[in-house]
Amino acid sequence: MKEENLSGHNPTPIKPASNYLEIKDSNAASPVRRRSFIKGLGIVGATLLPGSALLKAQAINSSNKLSQGDADLLRFAAWVELVESDLWTQYNELGGATAPNDGPPNVGNPPYKAALQNLDGDMPQYITDNNDDELSHAAFLNAYLQAHGEKAIDLKQFHKLPGSTATGVDKTKVGKRLTNLLSLNVDLGWYTRYRSGQNPDLGAVLNGPFKILNQPAIPLSDTDTPPTVVVPTPPIPAGSPALRIQAIANTAGFHFAFIEQGGTSLYPTLALKASSEEVLRILLSIGGVEIDHFSLWHDKAGNAVSQPLAGVTDPETNLNFPDLNDPATLARLHLQLELTQTNKIQPEPCAFIEATGLPACSVIRPTSTQLGGAVATVNSFMADGLFDGQKDAFFDQAMQLATAADNVQRR
Ligand SMILES: [Fe+2]
Ligand SMILES: [Fe+2]
Repeated sequence: MKEENLSGHNPTPIKPASNYLEIKDSNAASPVRRRSFIKGLGIVGATLLPGSALLKAQAINSSNKLSQGDADLLRFAAWVELVESDLWTQYNELGGATAPNDGPPNVGNPPYKAALQNLDGDMPQYITDNNDDELSHAAFLNAYLQAHGEKAIDLKQFHKLPGSTATGVDKTKVGKRLTNLLSLNVDLGWYTRYRSGQNPDLGAVLNGPFKILNQPAIPLSDTDTPPTVVVPTPPIPAGSPALRIQAIANTAGFHFAFIEQGGTSLYPTLALKASSEEVLRILLSIGGVEIDHFSLWHDKAGNAVSQPLAGVTDPETNLNFPDLNDPATLARLHLQLELTQTNKIQPEPCAFIEATGLPACSVIRPTSTQLGGAVATVNSFMADGLFDGQKDAFFDQAMQLATAADNVQRR
């Protein structure tokens, strides 16, 4: 995908909303104007249309202007998807299976890719697909805004961060990244949160099982992680030159889940404020894919802290990935197996709506504006280090968009 699409600067051109979709009718000398066609059919006739035609027709029928609130929600969603697109593009260049959108096979950074595959053999394909999804979310949301007379979100001016120089990166993008993946603090609170019966929206404070602080999630340079390093299948022996790149890949594995749990909470908070049914549909439908991503990465991250891979220590930073299924390790770290067991990736039922007498319910959490909303999302990405090096203007715009989204009231 071209950089213009990534930044939203030049999204897929959309015909003016008043345009009619042309369909060829074998009995008609000229194209039929679908808008009036649908109108004339009424609901019974409309149900006769094939699914894709019906979707197109619905889109055209909803070409009226967005309410201020719905536009604010979609603007923030577009902003967050551009952020996701940038970071997933970096992961895809180094660890993905192909170039975006079923492009040519991607060699990437061979040791990084091999280390990611120690988490799961399918990691490169999952990364590529996650990246494609984010690119599509960003392009769609910006195009939808434009189709409704709103400006697209454009972050091109902020693509100035250095990024990796390691084998596999797109050399034309060195110095042009929007997000930083070279040193991250990965909050692992979600790991414990979804294994517990507690809910942060009702006051629970849940810390992760261990800490990932100031760690790279991608190879920094060929000096730091030479592309010639051979990464063995686990267990990786002590002293192996592959330990550094394996630790970096493990950090990435947890960062993937961190990013997507953010989207998992964000989209419900935005959806709760939507006024139009179509905007609600957009937010629920994209949000569902964020949940799908999170669930996948939650599972894969667990492979970094279970046998045979668990126990990797980064020789540069001493970050250790403990065995979160091992009773002796858990005792040493003062952890309980029920909050760490690596295959417990399905959300445990938890306290939900605050009222006495209601049973626990398995739900996405948090979904409060305060903890899962737009400002909370920007703050969590900032704490992550994702925007380290960005300009004040970047943060000003982010907070402006986030505050506007959080302040929307459903009508
Ligand atoms: Fe997304
Ligand atoms: Fe996402």
